[in-house]
Amino acid sequence: MLQLLTFLVEKFSIFFKLKPLESNCSEAEDRERPGQRAPPPLLRRGDLLEVPRTLFTHFGIYLGNNKVAHLIPDILPLLTANNKLISSVITNDRLILGCIYKCATVRVDTLEDFAYGSNILVNHTDKVMKTQPLPSDCVAQRAEKLIGEVPYSLLWNNCEHFGTFCRYGSATSRQTEKFCEFLKLIIRDQRSVIITGLLGLVSIVHFGIAASTTLPSILIPFTLWMAG
Ligand SMILES: *[C@@H]1O[C@H](CO)[C@@H](O)[C@H](O)[C@H]1NC(C)=O
Ligand SMILES: *[C@@H]1O[C@H](CO)[C@@H](O)[C@H](O)[C@H]1NC(C)=O
Repeated sequence: MLQLLTFLVEKFSIFFKLKPLESNCSEAEDRERPGQRAPPPLLRRGDLLEVPRTLFTHFGIYLGNNKVAHLIPDILPLLTANNKLISSVITNDRLILGCIYKCATVRVDTLEDFAYGSNILVNHTDKVMKTQPLPSDCVAQRAEKLIGEVPYSLLWNNCEHFGTFCRYGSATSRQTEKFCEFLKLIIRDQRSVIITGLLGLVSIVHFGIAASTTLPSILIPFTLWMAG
């Protein structure tokens, strides 16, 4: 059952892949020299780190001594109390199931485990945030205070919120904003009214006229129409 869920979510994620934010030329460069990773940048306590993960860009705060604090979805704390198991590297399956079950922890990992094989971007968000970052040690202390379990919501309390909360003092997520923009686009696109209307007709033809088919077939296109 869990495997099936993971499989479905992975398929879904390919379909809905959120583009890594503003990675305009670095990706092309990476592809040109496969296997050869850029040397790790010089990191300082309080730096905001970003790496691409399955569905989104992942964020963490560097604490010094090769340690990174980050908020990451994880299913294991729900399934076991075995701390040794829980503190092992979080695989993508654990991450995706954690998303579904809304379970996440703020934890400390080594830089390598945090990066999960990807290049690390440092202070990348500074360029687009309107606010100045807090003093570096303050950033790190805010991150350290949050270590432990937190409820996870992909849209409203994600790893990017954690990173921006620690570094700038307010939690925002450009990934969430982009996703909402995407939803708005769908709603505004009048073609979705036609498509949902047609789907409604098909279901009425297929299942016959009943409250369960007729109401949604009218209500969904109507709502989309009004919201558009
Ligand atoms: C790529 O990023 C640079 C700055 O990092 C910017 O000047 C340039 O316009 C960007 N190119 C595209 C195609 O977005
Ligand atoms: C990141 O920003 C901090 C200031 O908040 C600065 O001290 C540090 O050098 C920056 N790191 C990099 C790699 O640019």
